[in-house]
Amino acid sequence: MMELTNGEVVARSAALMKTYGRWPVAMVRGEGVWLWDADGRRYLDFAGGIAVTVLGHSHPAVAEAIADQARTLLHCSNLYYIPQQVELANWLAGHSALDQAFFCNSGAEANEAAIKLARRWAYHNGAPGRSTVVTLEHSFHGRTLGALTATAQPRYQEGFGPLLGGVRHVPAGDLEALETALDGTVCAVMMEMVQGEAGVIPLQREYVRKVRDLCDRRGILLIIDEVQTGMGRTGTFFAYEQYRVEPDICTLAKGLANGVPVGAVLAKRAVAEAFGPGTHGSTFGGNPLAMRAALATVQVVEKERLWEKAARRGEYLRSRLSESLGQHPRVRGIRGLGLMLGLVLDQSAAPVAEACLEKGLLVTLAGGNTIRLLPALIVEEREIDDAVARLAAAFNQVFGGP
Ligand SMILES: Cc1ncc(COP(=O)(O)O)c(C=O)c1O
Repeated sequence: MMELTNGEVVARSAALMKTYGRWPVAMVRGEGVWLWDADGRRYLDFAGGIAVTVLGHSHPAVAEAIADQARTLLHCSNLYYIPQQVELANWLAGHSALDQAFFCNSGAEANEAAIKLARRWAYHNGAPGRSTVVTLEHSFHGRTLGALTATAQPRYQEGFGPLLGGVRHVPAGDLEALETALDGTVCAVMMEMVQGEAGVIPLQREYVRKVRDLCDRRGILLIIDEVQTGMGRTGTFFAYEQYRVEPDICTLAKGLANGVPVGAVLAKRAVAEAFGPGTHGSTFGGNPLAMRAALATVQVVEKERLWEKAARRGEYLRSRLSESLGQHPRVRGIRGLGLMLGLVLDQSAAPVAEACLEKGLLVTLAGGNTIRLLPALIVEEREIDDAVARLAAAFNQVFGGP
């Protein structure tokens, strides 16, 4: 491909739909926690492709696995067994509270499949009228129509109606509201352990345990969306481990193959049984390329026990942020788990994110007033120090200071 500058790429972009508020830079190369743009400028990447690149960019184990698989077999369809898919399903079953996996291509698709599975489970068990799924206000479960209906944030839904039926939203943390919502039409409750897009808001442990108890008492499934929190990011492989609950269905995507598109639905055997031949499918889901990349990724995560590193480095990042910006008059707090942290401001965080870009630091915004930090789990302390210094410089640029 011809080499263009940032400005030239932006100038040629009229044929792209404007679904994203993109920064005017074009990324062309990555290594570890660093990205380079088309003008050769280097950035410290604390956006991590929005919680995707858990091993950092261009990890040699993933690159080698992809190259080798591309030379061997890219795709063959799910009409046949795919050995890498069997291996990944076994790995995930061996490292989770769930027994069986279905593979797809994204987080939204995984959540769609989870909703379908919950409904089919009720149908399979003689209760076809139990089709409602209850989700939490401020949740984010994806952009396809089913996942968007589950996403309880009006700003993502505006103009896309009519949304699908059979979803009910309740405020997070309000057990009474949930008890009322769980009537005889409900088959499942779906929630994130840390509401990422809402502003990196962890649910309370006590609340989650009570939700689990309530679901058990009423014979309702608990679906945990680990699309953003999974793969060790929060300090355990799955965030639900820290809440000491087991889901009946769990979804994964983002970091699972370190950047190759993949999603997964994991379920207890008794639930998964509701998906017989022909009930659900995906042409690309679980293809040899994605499975090889995912296997390489989970093997590195396991070998290097990266969830432990995420817990340690997350603590370090939190303490450095607290020292450097905790007392800043515009900062309301720091929240999150492991290497999924949010710096909450008392105003829009967009000007700070823009100043960060100028200072060579990539961050993402969440919930309007939160700077969300999602670096690779291999990030070193000196890189965290560097990021915090750039963030502090961005604060000074926006709000004034030394
Ligand atoms: C918790 C959660 N669920 C689902 C999704 C949707 O994933 P995807 O963009 O891969 O469809 C996201 C994406 O940000 C997410 O954070």
